Amino acid sequence: MALSNRSLVTVDDLSTGEIEGLFSLADEMSGSMNEQRGVCQGKVMASLFFEPSTRTRLSFETAMHRLGGNIISAVDIGATSLAKGESIADMARVVGSYADIIVIRHPWEGAAKVVADYAGVPVINAGDGGHQHPTQTLCDLYTLQKERQTIKGLRITLWGDLKYGRTIHSLIFALAKFGADILFCPNPGLEVPEHIIKKLTTEYGGELVRYEALDHAVKEGLFPLDAIYITPSSPHQLAMMPAISIQVELKAGVDALYVTRPQQERFATAEEGQELKKRYPVVDKRLLKGKAFRKTLVMHPLPRVDELAYELDADARSMYFKQAARGVPVRMALIALLLGAKEVAIAKEEPLPKIDYPLYRRGFGVKCPNPRCVSGQETEMKYLKPEFKIVNREPLTLRCVYCEHGFEPKYIASSHWHEGRLDNKKYHSADSHWVREIRPENLIIFDSENEAQTHGFKPSSYVARRQKEHSEG
Ligand code: NCD
Repeated sequence: MALSNRSLVTVDDLSTGEIEGLFSLADEMSGSMNEQRGVCQGKVMASLFFEPSTRTRLSFETAMHRLGGNIISAVDIGATSLAKGESIADMARVVGSYADIIVIRHPWEGAAKVVADYAGVPVINAGDGGHQHPTQTLCDLYTLQKERQTIKGLRITLWGDLKYGRTIHSLIFALAKFGADILFCPNPGLEVPEHIIKKLTTEYGGELVRYEALDHAVKEGLFPLDAIYITPSSPHQLAMMPAISIQVELKAGVDALYVTRPQQERFATAEEGQELKKRYPVVDKRLLKGKAFRKTLVMHPLPRVDELAYELDADARSMYFKQAARGVPVRMALIALLLGAKEVAIAKEEPLPKIDYPLYRRGFGVKCPNPRCVSGQETEMKYLKPEFKIVNREPLTLRCVYCEHGFEPKYIASSHWHEGRLDNKKYHSADSHWVREIRPENLIIFDSENEAQTHGFKPSSYVARRQKEHSEG
């Protein structure tokens, strides 16, 4: 298997077969750490970390040193020309002409994709805001694989901040791809965003059962569960007997408890943070006394704050320091593969989940509503056109190609409005029948009525009637 010249922006960029191949190379390398010096000799890795990092940056840099390569780095936006208003695309072009591979961490969601689009060399996403952190996921999966020999069929509990945690977002899709069941235990208010749940169930199959839908008997004695994702490869007949099969499922215990800290740097307001942190669930000895956790691997991407008690460090179930240590061989294997310095055989290949959604791309109209998306930043708007996948027609749902945020826009129109008649230039409600009638290539989507009117469109009679009712009511 050759992965040379590919980038790793999201976990979707690697198939399960490729990940398994990478793990066997990581095994091989960790068994002979001191013999890898020639693998990337003469190669240069750019290490760009524009958000705090200890493990990810230092394990990437250790990995490159151990492979015999060299490193150039920038660790502070303020010390780069980004602070002078340079765009990410320009920076990527320049760094791509210096280095053979780029590792980037950036607070804007979708920033790593922009770097990958413009650099001309392989790019590794080391965390882009709250979007994804695919190499942490590789370390997590590698730990599961080493401790449990397989990932398929495991029951993994995700704990804490499932809303803003990028390690969680990458891990969810990877676990689904490998056929694991997922138990969601968010801190109240920090549930997995709905657009991630939608992508999970429509693209990876499987079924999501919400806590409210569970039987009283199943709920009894349960830890703070919000929902369960049952992978399509699970053997039971969930559709026929959901309560019973979930009960059986939970009795068998949890294979891993993946704890995360509150990602307070991404909370909307300081108040939101204070409120949420007060109720943040703590994983300690007492919780792990529960039957379901007898053989549970306790995982955490680190850093921890207060959500994981220090008293667990000596517990044989604790895996977090091992996870961090395994970051070096995993990242060595990844760098060597992307640089084409190594190839590995793949035993079996499962196709990546891939649906060819129609694309929506215009120089005007709807914008990504995610304030942390790279496509909405002033410096980037000069060259980036907002671009979306139309992932559903009814209700009309878009997914930003940069940050993957999903949303339902409100107004639509057709570029085919005229037929010579200006009075046909109307905009419609996105939940009207027009959404079926306008072809994707003619679709124009607006965030607001104001915007539609600015572009010369008038309200359809339905929208106008609703406006009138609104102002009267
Ligand atoms: C994580 C991150 O940066 O997203 N840390 C890491 O890379 N190991 C998790 C976190 O910061 O909470």
